[in-house]
Amino acid sequence: MGKTFTININQLLPGLMLAEDLIDCKTGQVLIPSETVIKEKHLERLSHFHVSGTCVVFDPSYSVKQQETIIDGYKDSTGGIKPLPELINERTKRVYKETYEVIKNFFKKDKTITEKDLHEIKEVANNISEEIVRDPYVLPQIAVLKAIDNYTFSHSIHVAIYATTLARFLEYPAAKLKEICSAGLLHDIGKMDIPREIVDKPAPLTDLEFKIMKKHPWYGLERLKNLKYMSKDIISAVSQHHEKENGTGYYQGLKGAEIHPWAKILAVADVYDAITTDRVYRKALLPHEGAEIVMGSCIGHLDYEKVKVFTREMSFYPVGTKVSLSTGEIGRVLSHHSTSPLRPLITIKKDRMEKIVDLSKKHTVLITQIFN
Ligand SMILES: [Fe+2]
Ligand SMILES: [Fe+2]
Repeated sequence: MGKTFTININQLLPGLMLAEDLIDCKTGQVLIPSETVIKEKHLERLSHFHVSGTCVVFDPSYSVKQQETIIDGYKDSTGGIKPLPELINERTKRVYKETYEVIKNFFKKDKTITEKDLHEIKEVANNISEEIVRDPYVLPQIAVLKAIDNYTFSHSIHVAIYATTLARFLEYPAAKLKEICSAGLLHDIGKMDIPREIVDKPAPLTDLEFKIMKKHPWYGLERLKNLKYMSKDIISAVSQHHEKENGTGYYQGLKGAEIHPWAKILAVADVYDAITTDRVYRKALLPHEGAEIVMGSCIGHLDYEKVKVFTREMSFYPVGTKVSLSTGEIGRVLSHHSTSPLRPLITIKKDRMEKIVDLSKKHTVLITQIFN
């Protein structure tokens, strides 16, 4: 049946097949036997009984059903944008949609980057940065909703949004925000030189594939270094975005102060977006879970100061976001305490009555889903 891998139970997705019995770690009881293909009903039962821990699943790329999905995925690889929240003004929606079109065209063709391409990227980066300077909470709201159905495009745009927003909270001047935004849009440009089967593989990479994938920051540097109007800071940010504080990153193995500060900003945005986005082989973490992983990555991987500002200032659950709670109730984010951005106040309307749940005081209640 092929390779297996271990994932958290809350990352299970319908269609994955269990390689081993899924066992309740509290009672030792078999909850779902091995070789079961996970369906919605299983996920509902697991969440109802708050089952946690890990489970072992087969690599979905070996399953025939998944192979068909992959082929469909290639056919429709341009994805699309889901409806955006009504609360967001038309101008911001337009900026997001225009960025999507530019990035889609940019990544679609395997081409050499020209000065004209660069000009287009700079233009959308200017628009995004202006929106973030005007209001640092609106564009992240769209990023949180993962409104684009294509990982490569959405990842580039969302990393740009998170990185520019973080840079704004770090008080970078407006002109620098535009450049950091361009760096975010371009950060994975080197993936254009990695075989498509590796970039789009709907499963964790093998050691060899990962070795090849690790070259993408270097390819990014190669693609950008000869462009006439490309700033050195952007090139450093792109080529160093996978370096780690303790020197174990790639491709240069730089350490601490050797890493360009913009690359450190991109790294925070990159890690956060990757773990909070659905992939075929694992479910996205919720914003508060993603923020906790980012905080945990301060040891050795990410820059502590940048992470501190990111987790303190970023609007992980923007006001107005529709969420469901572990109590089964559905409500909307009403406001935040500045001291606990990950546990907002939720308003729940039922039968003309309104109830407010303050998650910063109710530690047993959790956000379990966010909706468009
Ligand atoms: Fe990358
Ligand atoms: Fe990335």
